[in-house]
Amino acid sequence: MLITLIRPDDWHLHLRDGAALRAVLPHSARQFARAIVMPNLRPPITTVAAAEAYRARILDALPPGMSFAPLMTLYLTDNTPVDEIRRAVEHPDVHAVKLYPAGATTNSDSGVTDVDKCDAVLATMEKLGMPLLVHGEATDPAIDVFDREKVFIERVLQPLLTRYPRLKVIFEHITTSDAVEFVAACGANVAATITAHHLLYNRNAIFSGGVRPHYYCLPVLKREEHRRALLRAATSGNHRFFLGTDSAPHARHTKEAACGCAGCYTAHAALELYAEAFASAGALDRLEAFASFNGADFYGLPRNTDQVTLEQAQCRVPDTYAYAEGEALVPLRAGEWLPWRLLA
Ligand code: DOR
Ligand code: ZN
Repeated sequence: MLITLIRPDDWHLHLRDGAALRAVLPHSARQFARAIVMPNLRPPITTVAAAEAYRARILDALPPGMSFAPLMTLYLTDNTPVDEIRRAVEHPDVHAVKLYPAGATTNSDSGVTDVDKCDAVLATMEKLGMPLLVHGEATDPAIDVFDREKVFIERVLQPLLTRYPRLKVIFEHITTSDAVEFVAACGANVAATITAHHLLYNRNAIFSGGVRPHYYCLPVLKREEHRRALLRAATSGNHRFFLGTDSAPHARHTKEAACGCAGCYTAHAALELYAEAFASAGALDRLEAFASFNGADFYGLPRNTDQVTLEQAQCRVPDTYAYAEGEALVPLRAGEWLPWRLLA
């Protein structure tokens, strides 16, 4: 069986920099026309000038003959000036501002300690229609790690939307039925991305027969009932749910460690993994809108016009890919089989 769809975009992607960027970029460019590129580098991308320079490095890393449009984002801090937001709104290549609660995840130490500190910036974003991308996890270490998304909705996101009811918000990589219900109940200005790994796995994957660091990401995988709620949302036809892989590469030794990094690498087979999830729900006919239409429509960007084709055929994932400085990168499903294959 073959399925053909308009070429998709990835609305949440970590590309890193330097040699790591060069190692992973061809995987995303093979599948996607565009991607919203996360700004959590070290140091983070906090200015339009830094975003422009990073975009140039991404384009420079693109192998000859491949095309790919990086859609840049700014990393919000307690001190982001309103003028920087104005510059971002006017810049054709900056498409959103990312809110990382300080300490929530990888390279989030410079993130926001209290959203009240960003009042003027958020008011400007609401007025000028600049989307806020939200890593939605409460950071209080006393809160159970599996409850942090739900608590974030109650303590931060709901109050934020009450204060800025027209702010365009994308609740990134949602992982719970609470987030699904919250987004579904919001108006047209609030959407969510969903990863392939949160559609395919529940938290048992992290502990099956021993600790499995390559299934550890943030927000962490949740119970099966939450995975099912995500799958229902993604396949529901609601236009405010769309594809965002959150593909987050880390060198093998930094994941297979006493204190391993958070992130699942899925860019090598993103569309294949989403197709598997949609097929499991009998909803392959809904994949194209989720992967190729809803995100572009929400961001107000044109839909792509070329197509990609998936074939139902077993395809083995390599054990590792080459990463920066002789390191190995372990992809999701390493050494296992995928039921779909993206044709060249
Ligand atoms: O698992 C994750 N990895 N979650 C994030 O929010 C950040 C990402 C990364 O940059 O590695
Ligand atoms: Zn991410």
